[in-house]
Amino acid sequence: MIITPSILTADFCEIGRTIDEVIEAGINWIHLDVMDGNWVVNRTITFGPALIRSIRKRVGSNVFMDCHLMVTNAEENWEQYVDAGVNLVIAHVEAIEDMSTLISNLHARDCQAGAVLNPATPAAAILPFLPDLDLVLVMSVVPGKGGQSFMPEMEEKTKLFRAAIDAQIAAGGRQTKLMIDGGIKAHNIAQVADWGIEVAVVGSGLINDDGTIAQNLTKIKSSLLS
Ligand code: DX5
Ligand code: ZN
Repeated sequence: MIITPSILTADFCEIGRTIDEVIEAGINWIHLDVMDGNWVVNRTITFGPALIRSIRKRVGSNVFMDCHLMVTNAEENWEQYVDAGVNLVIAHVEAIEDMSTLISNLHARDCQAGAVLNPATPAAAILPFLPDLDLVLVMSVVPGKGGQSFMPEMEEKTKLFRAAIDAQIAAGGRQTKLMIDGGIKAHNIAQVADWGIEVAVVGSGLINDDGTIAQNLTKIKSSLLS
């Protein structure tokens, strides 16, 4: 299981130091939540390509970075995130008209392509694109902010994706990764591993006042072993 931090609960004045702490804890995948003040229901604005470019500069080229685009016009503005240095762009299926073209455009720029769906969106919205997707992200909260409660009812949808991806791989197709995002903590990480999740986004479970990132990561990893 790969653990990737969402930095939404970080103190943004300290972001460089937080990123250093993440890397020192041995994490090599960073999840970047981009909200444009329009798309998520609570109209949050987080950050954009400028901060992502600075984070890329800080971590160097060996750290994998994805951006989770919660924006209205990903079809038009995806390329600035590639230019800023992300390795994977994840777009909401509810927010764009033409997922196939976006996937081809990303691949043409040597960037991985991911699709994400809200808790209320059925798996069928993404399944047609599965053969070309590098990653599928299942939201286990309604996107908009860190620190929300995990929705266990995402089990069925997650297992459906797991089965579809396994069948695709068995038939010699793409090794699409399965990721989950929202409310993942030490107490439920083993459960989502059981569902077949390979990459878990952890925000407030890693970056909080209870412990250092390294301490929180150790707690999460040990609950995966028990
Ligand atoms: C929600 C974001 C998530 C979230 C994760 O809109 O996509 O990445 O911030 O944070 P936690 O782990 O606190 O739910
Ligand atoms: Zn996210």
